[in-house]
Amino acid sequence: MELDQLEQDLTEKISSAGAESALEEIRVAALGKKGVISEKMKVLGKVTPEERKTLGPALNGLKTRIADAISARKAILEEAALDARLATEKVDVTLPVRPEPKGKIHPVTQVFEEVAAIFADMGFEIREGPDIEDDFHNFTALNFPPDHPAREMHDTFFMNEKGNGERMVLRTHTSPVQIRTMMNEQPPLRVIIPGRTFRCDSDQTHTPMFHQVEGLVIDKETHMGHLKGTLTEFVKAFFEVDSVKTRFRPHFFPFTEPSAEMDVGYERVGGELRIGQGDDWMEILGSGMVHPNVLRNVGLDPDEYQGFAFGMGVDRLAMLKYGIPDLRDFFAADARWLEHYGFDPLDQPSTATGLSR
Ligand code: PHE
Repeated sequence: MELDQLEQDLTEKISSAGAESALEEIRVAALGKKGVISEKMKVLGKVTPEERKTLGPALNGLKTRIADAISARKAILEEAALDARLATEKVDVTLPVRPEPKGKIHPVTQVFEEVAAIFADMGFEIREGPDIEDDFHNFTALNFPPDHPAREMHDTFFMNEKGNGERMVLRTHTSPVQIRTMMNEQPPLRVIIPGRTFRCDSDQTHTPMFHQVEGLVIDKETHMGHLKGTLTEFVKAFFEVDSVKTRFRPHFFPFTEPSAEMDVGYERVGGELRIGQGDDWMEILGSGMVHPNVLRNVGLDPDEYQGFAFGMGVDRLAMLKYGIPDLRDFFAADARWLEHYGFDPLDQPSTATGLSR
């Protein structure tokens, strides 16, 4: 009777213990060296063998049940403590790691990447050259006659004369890199050349610094049909619309023969520029078959080698494709303009997944 009462008391205490420390106190008080149950065990030695037969198992059973109850309660308290800790240390994984990235890709950069993606698919590689050029690469090797007014037609920015009387120029086009490429490498060549170019000019569609992508193909059989096909395919891919109005117009460049300019149809609606419709034409590129004199100037035999070249205005392409009305805004460094016309830095243009979004 006495043991039953003791077991009931202890069990109640155990199940209402609210902390591990309280539980430990109960354990010491019951099963510790001087605990109630331990004290009772000591009495076993003094009772009669007859009494011991029933008291022994009763005490042992009690001891085991209490010990089990304590460890069961302990497990519950430990789990509750862990839950409480986890609740305070909770991380909201749906929160952004850091503020949304600020900053946009400039339309000129975007268009460079788009043009590169399209020509890469057609097997073109990229070459580059310096912004500051000498007269030879920018003019002479490209078949501009010496002191010919054609040099003026580019509104060239000249640097101050050097000691030897030579004047470097800010390259007026990316064509000098045609020369550099043909002098350094052997045909077959199929390259595009992106870069900055400079002419003293400024209005809605001209800025003193602008951007071009040059193209050059040299081998033994490429002809004007390939030129037209390549550029027509390019325009279709670039503008990402079903039909684009284009036209080839005969033109003159000293370094190509025959030569043609390509125009794209557009119209202005309100403050916006719309591509592919309307009666206005914007010139987007110059092109032609590489002039035999140019081939000779770089040491190639024009009876053996031939090919085409083109140079396109990247800024103009951006204006047309993205409806940007004024070229001068491109370089005004206005963050609001960039926020509006810029592109997501994480969207890489690709002909497979889409050039632009
Ligand atoms: N370099 C010419 C320009 O800037 C464009 C061009 C390049 C024309 C290659 C023909 C061939 O106007």
